[in-house]
Amino acid sequence: MARIPKPLPDGVLHWPGFYPREAQEALLADIRAGVANAPLFTPTMPRTGKPLSVRMTNFGTLGWVTDKDGGYRYQPRHPVTGEFWPPIPDELLRLWRDLFLDEQPPQACLVNFYTDDAKMGLHQDSDETNRAAPVLSVSLGNACLFRIGGNLRNDPTQSFRLESGDVMALTGPARDAFHGVDRIYADTNDLLKDGGRLNVTLRRVT
Ligand code: SIN
Ligand code: MN
Repeated sequence: MARIPKPLPDGVLHWPGFYPREAQEALLADIRAGVANAPLFTPTMPRTGKPLSVRMTNFGTLGWVTDKDGGYRYQPRHPVTGEFWPPIPDELLRLWRDLFLDEQPPQACLVNFYTDDAKMGLHQDSDETNRAAPVLSVSLGNACLFRIGGNLRNDPTQSFRLESGDVMALTGPARDAFHGVDRIYADTNDLLKDGGRLNVTLRRVT
């Protein structure tokens, strides 16, 4: 018998299958165009310099970066090319506007690329000075197991799948919730020809 799904914590919004395949392809084309100007780079952990398993880049006026010497931060330019980040794709700005009528527009669009063996440890999004605005994300490509907890690292967590075309938001009481990506499910989607998963995350920073 199917299990009854557990309700998500207050403020965690999930729209499964928000974008149909054609819209996913269009969004992917927008992202590829941006990545052509702002190539994916390998971020490293503050202090240890250990590389993260995801590669990333950004669109928008501010991009989130991390490296050994500078730590976690937002900055207006790509750390490798020194160029300003490309603009956030119109479709993503429209999505934000449609969902969050009263919010100021997002300043940062973090692009995370996961190979099928990449993951992201449990963390809070806490480098924004504006912690009232929601965090909005779109998933493309292979599915992942997404983990979400509470505002304290040791709060209980629950996990659910994010599939290609899903939209998710951390709002209100869940804005500062710990979250991470436990694993990618290889061969669950063919949007990305070489596998892996792309996630874009929109944030208001200031
Ligand atoms: C993130 O927390 O930066 C990414 C989350 C995700 O890949 O779904
Ligand atoms: Mn995050």
